[in-house]
Amino acid sequence: MTSIVRYLTGITTTGTPHLGNYVGAIRPAVQASRRPGTENFYFLADYHALIKCDEPARIQRSTLEIAACWLAAGLDPEQVFFYRQSDIPEIPELTWLLTCVCGKGLLNRAHAYKAQVDKNTAAGVDEDAEVTAGLFMYPVLMAADIIMFNAHRIPVGRDQVQHIEMARDMASSFNHLYGEHFVLPEAAIDESVAMLPGLDGRKMSKSYDNVIALFGAREQVRKQIFSIVTDSRAPGEPKDTEGSALFQVYQAFADEAETAALRKAYAEGIAWSDAKQLLFERIDREIGPMRERYEHLVSHPQELEAILKRGAEKARERATPFMATLRHAVGLRNLAAQDRPAKVRSAKSALPSFKQYREADGKHYFKLVDAAGALLLQSSAFDSPQEAGRAVARLKQEGWHEADGAARPAGGVTAEQVRSALAQLSG
Ligand code: TRP
Repeated sequence: MTSIVRYLTGITTTGTPHLGNYVGAIRPAVQASRRPGTENFYFLADYHALIKCDEPARIQRSTLEIAACWLAAGLDPEQVFFYRQSDIPEIPELTWLLTCVCGKGLLNRAHAYKAQVDKNTAAGVDEDAEVTAGLFMYPVLMAADIIMFNAHRIPVGRDQVQHIEMARDMASSFNHLYGEHFVLPEAAIDESVAMLPGLDGRKMSKSYDNVIALFGAREQVRKQIFSIVTDSRAPGEPKDTEGSALFQVYQAFADEAETAALRKAYAEGIAWSDAKQLLFERIDREIGPMRERYEHLVSHPQELEAILKRGAEKARERATPFMATLRHAVGLRNLAAQDRPAKVRSAKSALPSFKQYREADGKHYFKLVDAAGALLLQSSAFDSPQEAGRAVARLKQEGWHEADGAARPAGGVTAEQVRSALAQLSG
């Protein structure tokens, strides 16, 4: 079955990218963006940045650096959708529609908000002290990011899984009230991607202040690497790879043979300073060639600006018409066009419709039948009702093409009949 899977992920623009971001998010995403049969949406979540940061210059600088970083790491903006959240006005617009279908209780349970409430309670201050409505609404904005493009799979860290589940909730509430407009997104957690330890051995994270800069000056990077914690074993004494942050960082860059060689060197008592030098050289071999492009982009912001503007245009080719459909669905309609929806409504029983069902073979199917119940389109087999549902949503949104493996016209039914039936449904 050949249906496109859409991946989408965003990076909040509040900091300078470090090695942990590169290994955990950027590198796997750039590789994944080349998979056939996928569409990939990567964006700079600068509206989200406003929730955490009130320094305008820092947000601007971070957006510049993170954008440059993705491109230097090999992301091809022609092949993916690469854009800045704040260039897509449909996203805050959809945020409002979702705000109106999202239970306040759902947001009360969001981890980031709850953590602040717990902290306030423990400190004996008002439970909402220092909580902005932005922090509270964070999951709604994130849901809009995701379902604006009907993304299926969301590569994120574990800390974001709850947000994806909330996005599913909002999408299904909206669908329930206003028709099947959204596919229900799922978190995609890549178990094979290493969690990179930082200088002190804890997870590399800006909040622990233990990061290695990704495109820092070579000398700065070298200094940081030399400050990775090790134990006090002297040169010549065998060393443990288990629990060695240095070894784990090396492993995230090295191939199997290189890793095996360092393991052997540990056993043979390599001096920590030599091991650190090896690590520095190995990282520099991968990052060094990207540095030139990074520096070029950071010093030519107008080039980045043009790339992002083009990315926004491409993303809005999807977002603008979809938003028009959603506005219509909720009743934000051109008053002069009142006739058409009224007619559609009164003729509801005379519309074609999708039917989803399960067969004796345990597989899930759907069919499209015309107003009189005659079969127009028959699906192939799906393993789950969700997959079948996604294919239906996609057909409604994008129409049907000859090359679509998800469904075939019934005998004697023309492609034109199928398309016009779907067009009736997408209105
Ligand atoms: N909240 C995410 C983070 O802090 C960033 C983000 C914003 C995001 N919108 C998104 C991630 C949509 C995935 C999908 O990591």
